[in-house]
Amino acid sequence: MRRHRIAAIPGDGIGQEVIDAGVRVLDALAKRDGGFGLAFETFDWGSDYYRKHGVMMPADGLARLKPFDAIYFGAVGAPDVPDHVTLWGLRLAICQSFDQYANVRPARILPGIQSPLRNATAKNLDWVIVRENSEGEYAGQGGRSHKGLPEEIATEVAIFTRAGVTRIMRYAFALARSRPRKLLTVVTKSNAQRHGLVMWDDIAGEVAVEFPDVTWDKMLVDAMTMRMVLRPETLDTVVATNLHADILTDLAAALVGSLGIAPTANLNPGGKFPSMFEPIHGSAFDIMGKGIANPLGAFWTATMMLDHLGEKAASAALMRAIERATADPTLHTPDLGGKATTKAVTDAIIGFIQGGNT
Ligand code: IPM
Ligand code: MG
Repeated sequence: MRRHRIAAIPGDGIGQEVIDAGVRVLDALAKRDGGFGLAFETFDWGSDYYRKHGVMMPADGLARLKPFDAIYFGAVGAPDVPDHVTLWGLRLAICQSFDQYANVRPARILPGIQSPLRNATAKNLDWVIVRENSEGEYAGQGGRSHKGLPEEIATEVAIFTRAGVTRIMRYAFALARSRPRKLLTVVTKSNAQRHGLVMWDDIAGEVAVEFPDVTWDKMLVDAMTMRMVLRPETLDTVVATNLHADILTDLAAALVGSLGIAPTANLNPGGKFPSMFEPIHGSAFDIMGKGIANPLGAFWTATMMLDHLGEKAASAALMRAIERATADPTLHTPDLGGKATTKAVTDAIIGFIQGGNT
């Protein structure tokens, strides 16, 4: 029996509700499959922990996570704790220390989900956006001097390294090659950002030579937003910097009909450190505790985690169960315009899994 150790970090807000649901679903899948087992350990890190201890996770937090095969993460962010504290104290601390340099965000219209784009369907909108996740605009470089004085200055320095850009480019080309269309779009802003992003373009050209079977093109990020809306069918795999892809993935999540469904993998492709899987929706304090959070983002995320663990059959079964749920409007939570609860959707998915017909 294959055994996988999973660290669950539900975190804040609805993160707790959806990770709870995700663990139930994953347990049901493992039971049905019979070939693998999942051992979860849950960590109570996040904003509550911060209020008690003044830190988002203990000093040995990363050392405790390191032996796990994967991290299943809910969300961080609370109204009374500054966002940069919650983020840098937990999520970004994990992503950066564990060198999870590839952030992978599929965007696809699932059955029964209405895109705000008039003509978009599952057939013509099926993307994977690869976000550089270790440097760029999120490198944390910079500072403030003369705080509060009229001459105060602040710098926020974007860092692009040849090693960092080359590895994300290779990851993106390889991912594009693994998909039927073998099509990659490299996004930059190399007309205005004339150093780091011109290097992106150069390195894209160099890496492309290693992947002669992949068709690729370049887009400036502003024009890319228009192309995503007006010609979604011309895109397949996309690679962009940390900040550009942050923005593009919100647009993508909106275009596929709900932020509540979108998943993310923060991958350390070499496997030296555990990778981390999270729904993209965040802590959503406005609906916390109401039992109406959409758990499908956490479930789709779980399919990515299962893929990463090598459990392809279980991953595919869960994805089919998710698509069955989205196809049924009585299983739509309020973010999709329905009335279903987190529990009802979770129970239905578990029912599909146990029924063996997903
Ligand atoms: C995301 C989020 C985060 C990010 C925020 C919460 C810092 O928007 O995962 O896309 O920008 O990385
Ligand atoms: Mg974002």
